Amino acid sequence: MCGIIGYIGNNNCILHLTNGLKRLEYRGYDSAGIAIINNKELKVYKEKGKLQNLINLLNEKRNEMSNSNIGIGHIRWATHGIPNEINAHPHTTNFAPIAIVHNGIIENYKELKEDLITKGAIFKSETDTEVIAHLIGYEYTQTKDLKTAVINATKQLKGAYALCIINENNPNEIIATKRFAPLIIGKGNNENIIGSDIPAIINITNKVIYLDDNETAIITKEDIKVYDSNNNIINKNIAILNIKEDNLNKDGYKHFMLKEINEQPNIIRNLINSNIVKERIKNLPTNINNIKIIACGTSLHAGIIAKYIIEDITSIPVETESASEYIYRKNTTNKNSLVIGISQSGETADTITALRQAKEKNATTIIITNREDSSICKYGDYILPINAGIEISVAATKSYTAQLITLYLLSIHLSELENKNDIKTKELKSHLNEIPNKMEQILNNTNIIENIAIKLSAYKDFIFISRGTNIGSSMEGALKLKEISYINATAYPAGELKHGPIALLDENIPLIAILIPNHITYDKLISNCQEAKARKAKLIAITSSNDETLTNLFDYIIQIPEISENVSPLITCIPLQLIAYYIANFLGKDVDQPRNLAKSVTVE
Ligand code: G6P
Repeated sequence: MCGIIGYIGNNNCILHLTNGLKRLEYRGYDSAGIAIINNKELKVYKEKGKLQNLINLLNEKRNEMSNSNIGIGHIRWATHGIPNEINAHPHTTNFAPIAIVHNGIIENYKELKEDLITKGAIFKSETDTEVIAHLIGYEYTQTKDLKTAVINATKQLKGAYALCIINENNPNEIIATKRFAPLIIGKGNNENIIGSDIPAIINITNKVIYLDDNETAIITKEDIKVYDSNNNIINKNIAILNIKEDNLNKDGYKHFMLKEINEQPNIIRNLINSNIVKERIKNLPTNINNIKIIACGTSLHAGIIAKYIIEDITSIPVETESASEYIYRKNTTNKNSLVIGISQSGETADTITALRQAKEKNATTIIITNREDSSICKYGDYILPINAGIEISVAATKSYTAQLITLYLLSIHLSELENKNDIKTKELKSHLNEIPNKMEQILNNTNIIENIAIKLSAYKDFIFISRGTNIGSSMEGALKLKEISYINATAYPAGELKHGPIALLDENIPLIAILIPNHITYDKLISNCQEAKARKAKLIAITSSNDETLTNLFDYIIQIPEISENVSPLITCIPLQLIAYYIANFLGKDVDQPRNLAKSVTVE
């Protein structure tokens, strides 16, 4: 996964390219590059590391690019070849004076490479992308028309790509095309911009064309023409985006992550007050007798919690599974299955494949996503938008709670459809209404959490435990800590502690336990903590209990408002997110752009 951008207009393109790349940094940030045409000459600039390194280089070379109003750019998350300057995009070819940027993975690049070498291609990098540059270059030598060359070349590619290409011989157009990777074209006023995602283009225009798979566009500064794979021109709708620029700023917070954590109460409030689930899920087939929830990463944790809730208030059995496992085994999905795909970005390759497979098995599908315009949506019979607003921090926070509340609302809807509007379902509904205020109570008083986090920041290994719905919360708490502080953290259902992990415990391991007193397993969980205490583990409780005896057992207690167990994951996640945030911040880590990660993983 990577971010790509293209700009053509009257203005110097450098600032537009680097601004766009800045807005795409969440997609990758291990190297970056641009290609421009300046005074009829193609020029490529690339740097290893963060985008700022490229910006510094461009500042030094400013004199070389005074007259460039066409360019393409790329921000990389390495797949083939280490992050270095040679492997960074744009890539070029000895066949023609063109440069390309690519997001995606080419699966048949080895075969293509061998063939292209016999045709005279000289390879410089270890990337799969360079194959595309040579392939298009070679086709261009045959057709002398870049758009036709791109259409011919992409027909030979297996895998995923979004591409922008410029050609020194024609400094008035950018060619863009895609398959299984996102690409949008923004229509400005005497300028046009192409990007992997909305933030990259929104400061130029809110009018966009969504390219569909196998479509190819010629973008000039005045015009956008789109062609199908048979080279026939097609009409495309222009959509108007309703996104505010301020969503893309930190609003005075030190990091996007902290801003996004604080946005959660309002997002949840809006979702509870909306009728979105009822409006979107009408006429659900009556034959559904099993549910599969499929997702990755943080979204998977939301799905793990949802299994507890749905099974508690409906009679339907639920399986939650990582998309990367689901797609490579003979699973039991059939025409009576409801498959719920959860993906913040809607671009996660494994989850998309899973939902495609589910559709092929005639299952009914629901997509829960923050991006209704994303690739996964084409596999959804029903789409549930979580309306969390653009999430910029790589570590997901607000999208997680927005997914969770959507899953709660969906569970209630499923229970009502089953005519099970029983006391449990009614109670669940009323407990959900309390969530936004209780989140705010925690967020208005974060000093204690910050102080505890600072004390914990010296430890190298953490264990998170809980029971019931909060097992998913423990997993998410451990994931957040790993992602942004690089501290080892694992999560277990508390009952599993004695079956192995207890061997790890000593005074060097903090154990973070989530304890909700009104739950049937509360006393058992306390016993597990006592067993850990006997092994000298440092004990931290996240609890709504006022039981004073806990102060003897735990080294630190993070008090949360009183809450019913069934909705408590929506509350316990807040201190967990904050612990991870404050530890990473105290350790001076790059909170919003943790190493090796990217926000959406568009490769398998
Ligand atoms: C990446 C991100 C995670 C995210 C996961 C699934 O690994 O770093 O934060 O949870 O992908 O992403 P999705 O967009 O499908 O929810």
